[in-house]
Amino acid sequence: MLHGSAPRPATARKSAGLTGSVRIPGDKSISHRSFMFGGLASGETRITGLLEGEDVINTGRAMQAMGARIRKVGEQWLIEGTGNGALLAPDAPLDFGNAGTGVRLTMGLVSTYDFRSTFIGDASLSKRPMGRVLNPLREMGVQVSASEGDRLPVTLRGPGTPSPIRYRVPMASAQVKSAVLLAGLNTPGVTTVIEPVMTRDHTEKMLQGFGAALSVETDEDGVRTIRLEGRGKLKGQVIDIPGDPSSTAFPLVAALLVPGSDITIVNVLMNPTRTGLILTLQEMGADIEVLNARLAGGEDVADLRVRHSELKGVTVPEDRAPSMIDEYPILAVAACFAEGVTVMKGLEELRVKESDRLSAVADGLKLNGVDCDEGEDFLIVRGRPDGKGLGNATDGRVSTHLDHRIAMSFLVMGLASEHPVTIDDAAMIATSFPEFMQLMTGLGAKIDEVPE
Ligand code: S3P
Repeated sequence: MLHGSAPRPATARKSAGLTGSVRIPGDKSISHRSFMFGGLASGETRITGLLEGEDVINTGRAMQAMGARIRKVGEQWLIEGTGNGALLAPDAPLDFGNAGTGVRLTMGLVSTYDFRSTFIGDASLSKRPMGRVLNPLREMGVQVSASEGDRLPVTLRGPGTPSPIRYRVPMASAQVKSAVLLAGLNTPGVTTVIEPVMTRDHTEKMLQGFGAALSVETDEDGVRTIRLEGRGKLKGQVIDIPGDPSSTAFPLVAALLVPGSDITIVNVLMNPTRTGLILTLQEMGADIEVLNARLAGGEDVADLRVRHSELKGVTVPEDRAPSMIDEYPILAVAACFAEGVTVMKGLEELRVKESDRLSAVADGLKLNGVDCDEGEDFLIVRGRPDGKGLGNATDGRVSTHLDHRIAMSFLVMGLASEHPVTIDDAAMIATSFPEFMQLMTGLGAKIDEVPE
C-alpha cells in the first residue's frame, strides 16, 4: 500500500446531538517549528502541548539526525540544540513521510550548510512541487539535484558562503516564506522576504522569540517586508503550544451540522492568520461563542462553545483564502447542509496540497449526492439543509488520496447525512490528528472502522 500498510476504511453515520468538552492536540505548524528551532538553538528548549502526529515526529527525527538531542520526560519534550550554524551532516536520507511543511522548511534550514543532504517522502509528498522552495535556494547558491519537475527525492549541497537574497514570494505560501528565512539563518548579511499577501506568521514570531534579529514592516497595501540578519545566536525557549485551529475545524463543523449538539473546545489557537474559517462560518449563521479570549506565549488563544446552527450559503471573499487554506474541505462539507449556494474562489493552491484537494472534495461530494461545480480554481456547492439524499446508499467509498483532511472532512459529512458516508482509508489521519476517532466518538459521533 502507498503508506506502507493495509488501508483502513471507515464509515460515519447520522448521529444524535454531540455533547461534551474537548481539548484539541497542539498546532501542527507551531509543533514543526518548535522541533526545528529548538533543535537549532543553543541550550535547552522545553515544549508542552506538542502535536505527536506522524508529520511532526518525522521533523523531530530529522533534527536528531542533524545533531539535536530530543527526549520526552513526562508531558514535556526537552531539546538540546546544536547552536545556529552548527547542524551536522545527516548520514542517511531524511524521510518526511506525508509532511509538506516538514520537508520544505527543513530544506530551507539545511540548504545553506556546506554539506550534502537528501530528502524523501511518501507517494503523496513525492508528487508535490518543490520548485517553489528550490528556486530561491538556487539563487542563494545552493546546488540542487531533484527528480523530474523539481519533486522528491531532492539532494542539496550548500555553498561555502551563501548569498543573502531579496525574494518576493510569488504565491501565498507560508512554507516558501519560511524556507527562505530559515536558509537566511546560516547566511551572512540580511535575507529579505517580501510577502504581498500575509500568510501564517509563526516563523516570524517564533524566530523573534528565539532571539533572531528579524523585523517586519507592513506598507499601506498590506505588503510585508521581512528582514533577517543571518548567523546570529538563537537561545532555547519554553513553549506551550495551543490547540490546532485546523484540527478544531472538524469537531466544530460536526457540532454545527448535527442537530442537538452543544460542545466546548478549549485552548484553541486564534492567531488572526488562522481564523478565516470561524469568520466564514459566523457569516453563514454559525453559533460559535468565543470564550476566555487570552494571550498565551505571544499567541491569541480562546475556548469555543459551538451549538447546532441553521447555516446559509455565502460567497467567501477570495482574499480570505490564506487564513483558511487548510479548511476548504471541511467548509465545503458545511456548505452541503447550508440553505442556498456557497461560492469558494481563489483556490488554486488547493491543487498542490497533500492531494489535489479541489478535485478530491468535488469527487467525494458528487459521490455522496451533493450538487456542486468544480472549476479550475473555484468550487460551488448547493446545500440540502436537512441532509436528505446525502451520503451513499450504494456503499461507494470516498477516495482520500493519502490526505488526512479529506478523510476527516467526509467522516464529518456522514454524521449529518441521510445515508452513511464511507472513506477508503482513515490511516492518514494519524499524520495530524491521531486522537480524532476517539475524540469524535467521545462526543457521540457514530464513526466505525470497517473490517475488510
Ligand atoms: C503551513 C503552510 C500552509 C498550510 C500547511 C502548513 C505552514 O502551506 O497549508 O498545512 O506550517 O507553514 P502553504 O505554505 O503551501 O500554503
